[in-house]
Amino acid sequence: SNYFKCLNNLIMAAKIIDGKLIASKVKEQVSIAVSDLNQKSIFPGLATIIVGNDAASSIYVKNKRKSAKEVGIESFQYELSENIQEKELLELINELNLNSDVDGILVQLPLPKHINSDLIIDSIDVNKDVDGFNVINAGKTFIGRDSVIPCTPLGCLLMLKSIKIELKGKNAVIIGRSNIVGKPMAQLLLNEDCTVTIVHSKTFNIQALVKEADIVVAAVGSANLVKGSWIKKGAVVIDVGINRLKVEDKNILVGDINFNEVKDIASYITPVPGGVGPMTIACLLMNTVFQCAKRNNVSIPNNLKKLF
Ligand code: GUN
Repeated sequence: SNYFKCLNNLIMAAKIIDGKLIASKVKEQVSIAVSDLNQKSIFPGLATIIVGNDAASSIYVKNKRKSAKEVGIESFQYELSENIQEKELLELINELNLNSDVDGILVQLPLPKHINSDLIIDSIDVNKDVDGFNVINAGKTFIGRDSVIPCTPLGCLLMLKSIKIELKGKNAVIIGRSNIVGKPMAQLLLNEDCTVTIVHSKTFNIQALVKEADIVVAAVGSANLVKGSWIKKGAVVIDVGINRLKVEDKNILVGDINFNEVKDIASYITPVPGGVGPMTIACLLMNTVFQCAKRNNVSIPNNLKKLF
């Protein structure tokens, strides 16, 4: 009957992990930490560089700058032409490496094809890398050393921790193997004692592997890829995808997870928008404060340490 259908839906409906709310709490703590640093005459600064005018990247960078200001981090902004030469970009980064007002340098990816991204990323001072993409920091993350953790995987981990489920021994399946999300995410979950599988475009039978997962992290950039039938009942589902779709002449944002199908099967799910996106930014601000504290030889503010 309808009554039982209704009741069943209530019982089955996943809880939403509110990334926006958790991010606002993280930002509040970052803001307190910045005030503490200011008391010591230390003023954290973040330089953001965007090359070209990709619409999505422009929005992400604008949000990063706005959020930095909100928590009291000074923002140094560079908008470079699509046609800039690699050498000029390297010169700017070198200048920022030497500028003592700058604690973090973020080069928004992707870069135009004529620029060697690896070269650019590695030119950022290890101690001003706030993405954790520099080879040294990526290597440290890989072997579980104290390092700068890439913002998006860190945001996903904080969301998983917010629901206070045991991670130890759980099957975690990560869809996507990018250096920005998939690979570091695997490492973080491995450090939490999960059994980690990365699936990707060449994987045989992705669905069967996802079906075994207690935790699913989707980061491939394929709209609504993951169907309800792929998900084990009660799994925790983190959706990193931000895909723009046109539906009936309207532009909408959807994730890599088919939210409407999965929400009644998962125990927890992150929405798009309002899930991982705001967490990425909050973690960037946190990384900036960590790098600032480290560079100034002061200990990491206690309130931020407590977030882990
Ligand atoms: N492009 C997509 N995500 C990110 C990120 O976290 N950092 C940078 N720099 N570029 C990105």
